[in-house]
Parts: sequence; C-alpha cells; structure tokens
Amino acid sequence: MKKYVGFTGLILVLMSGWVSSDSMKPEDSVEYRQSAFRLMSYQLNVLNPLHRSKAYSDEQFVYRAEMLNRLGALALEGFTEESQSVSSRSAAAVWENQADFTERMQAFIATTAEMVESASAGQDDQTRDLFRQTLQSCRACHDRYRLD
Ligand code: HEC
Repeated sequence: MKKYVGFTGLILVLMSGWVSSDSMKPEDSVEYRQSAFRLMSYQLNVLNPLHRSKAYSDEQFVYRAEMLNRLGALALEGFTEESQSVSSRSAAAVWENQADFTERMQAFIATTAEMVESASAGQDDQTRDLFRQTLQSCRACHDRYRLD
C-alpha cells in the first residue's frame, strides 16, 4: 500500500511539471478563476436561505462557508500576469491597482475563514455579521473590478 501511494505521488509531481511547462495557456487561468467565481454563486444559493432562517450553526452553513473560503484562494490564483492580455470580465483596473485588488481578495479569504470559525463555534450574531460582510465584499469588488 505504501509503495502504491509513493507511486501516485510521483505521478502527480510529474504531471504538475508537465502541466505548468508545456500545456498551460493564459486562457486556462481565465477559465480557472471564472469557474471558481461561478462556484461561489452556488455556495451563496445554499447560504442565502440559511441566512434568512438564521441557521448559522447548521452543518451546511459551516461547510458552504468553508467552500467559499477555498474558492477565494482558487479565484485569486487565476489572476496570473500572463492572463492580463486575454479578454474577460476583469477590468484593466485589476492589474493597474493590483495591490488593492489582491488585498480585497485576501480580505475576502480572511473574512470567510473567520465565518467558518464563528459558525462552527455557534456564535450566530458574529456569523450573521461576517456573512453580510462577505456579501458586501462580492459587491464592492464587482463595482470596481468586474466589467458588466
Ligand atoms: C476582490 C474581488 C472580488 C470578490 C471579493 C468577488 N469577486 Fe466575483 N469577480 C471578480 C472579477 C474581477 C470577476 C471577473 C473575472 C473574469 O472574467 O476575469 C468576477 C466574476 C464573477 C462571476 C462571473 C464568473 C463567470 O462566469 O465569468 C461571478 C458569478 C462572481 N464573480 C461571483 C462572485 C461572488 C458570489 C462573490 C462573493 C461570494 C464574488 N464574486 C467575490 C472579482 C471579485
């Protein structure tokens, strides 16, 4: 069994080297970040009704909050330098104000991480505030950095 795991690990290392050097196109980064954002909407479709019924300690709430947190990291990963030239819904401002944009993405990741902790700890009022803050950060960022 141990041997088998080692072998799989080796394959993964070989594959990741192969993916990054030969077959990655700038378009792939755009697809990657857009996919992560689309999956964020899915999480909100589950979270919004839970928010309305104040079910902040629900297992689903904790799980979806965790997914939002991970997706934030994936979305950020997709904003590669090379993908700047590919047409997408990202405004030029993303690269012009890169420090501010990255800070906002990181704030989103930090807020959702806090939301996971507070929902797990059953701190409903704090979770509600963090959820509102999360929604606000989607909107505020789209206003500045996403094209219609
Ligand atoms: C810090 C900035 C930022 C935050 C936070 C953010 N977004 Fe976005 N979002 C963007 C940008 C920029 C794009 C355009 C991506 C592209 O096309 O290159 C985008 C695109 C999208 C898209 C369209 C994806 C597609 O199919 O092309 C959806 C849906 C979306 N965001 C949902 C969300 C949701 C839901 C949240 C919050 C839970 C969120 N976003 C948080 C910046 C942000």
